Amino acid sequence: MNENATHPIGVFDSGYGGLTILKEFVRMLPEHDFIYLGDNARNPYGARSFETVYAYTLEAVKRLFRMGCHLVILACNTASARALRTIQQNDLPGIDPERRVLGVIRPTAEKVGAVTRAGHVGILGTMGTVSSQSYLLEIRKFFPHITVTQEACPLWVPMVENNELSGPGAEYFVNKNITRLLGADAAIDAVILGCTHYPLLMDTILKFTPPGVTVIPQDRIVADSLMDYLARHPDMEKRCSRGGTVQFLTTDSTEIFDAMGAIFFGAPIRSERIAL
Ligand code: DGL
Repeated sequence: MNENATHPIGVFDSGYGGLTILKEFVRMLPEHDFIYLGDNARNPYGARSFETVYAYTLEAVKRLFRMGCHLVILACNTASARALRTIQQNDLPGIDPERRVLGVIRPTAEKVGAVTRAGHVGILGTMGTVSSQSYLLEIRKFFPHITVTQEACPLWVPMVENNELSGPGAEYFVNKNITRLLGADAAIDAVILGCTHYPLLMDTILKFTPPGVTVIPQDRIVADSLMDYLARHPDMEKRCSRGGTVQFLTTDSTEIFDAMGAIFFGAPIRSERIAL
């Protein structure tokens, strides 16, 4: 394993979605170094098998480790649902037991109790996230009394990746999935966007959500959780370098990544292309 001078916090997603999380990390931890890796060449992950998502995610994590990261956040619900546990339990001990990989599902599940008064929560996510049952299992651990209903939205990530954020096409599919979710449990008063791509559809989502239902993106929740993690793990906090740099890597065209990524990140981006 190469040892680099800097030890950025690695942030991984299948494509652009994790940039919504990175944006919040950088806002809250501006002095830290970050490397973002988007596997745009193989995106979307949402409908891929467990084995494929696991293999792709492990490649990305190893790459970020080789680039000096001691801590990697899977800023992707699908990768968190399908690959995180196996990487933590089977791979990390052999690669380097001192390094850490964290996901986005557990920190989100921990906050669910604070966002619903009715005790009925809806989860919107990819096919992979929903079928893994990860949200149901994690929420049950913290809040066994909360009723959780899930809805897979297989077309939302492709819509977002192609900048179809509003207009009749996006509205049709957003309305369809939200109507189905709320139709399955009329008592839902909080909907979690369990995919880091979905905040880009927020305006369209709100158009089809009744006023009594709160829609919750993950960016703040996951950033708060990272701050909390670093405060509780000073050894890791010390290992993460502080140069205030943000590096962007993509496995596909940098021109497209820079143009699209800027929408997600909310600021200009200049990426480098790598092969995994
Ligand atoms: N941003 C990923 C997530 O949070 C999208 C997965 C995909 O590539 O389909 O699930």
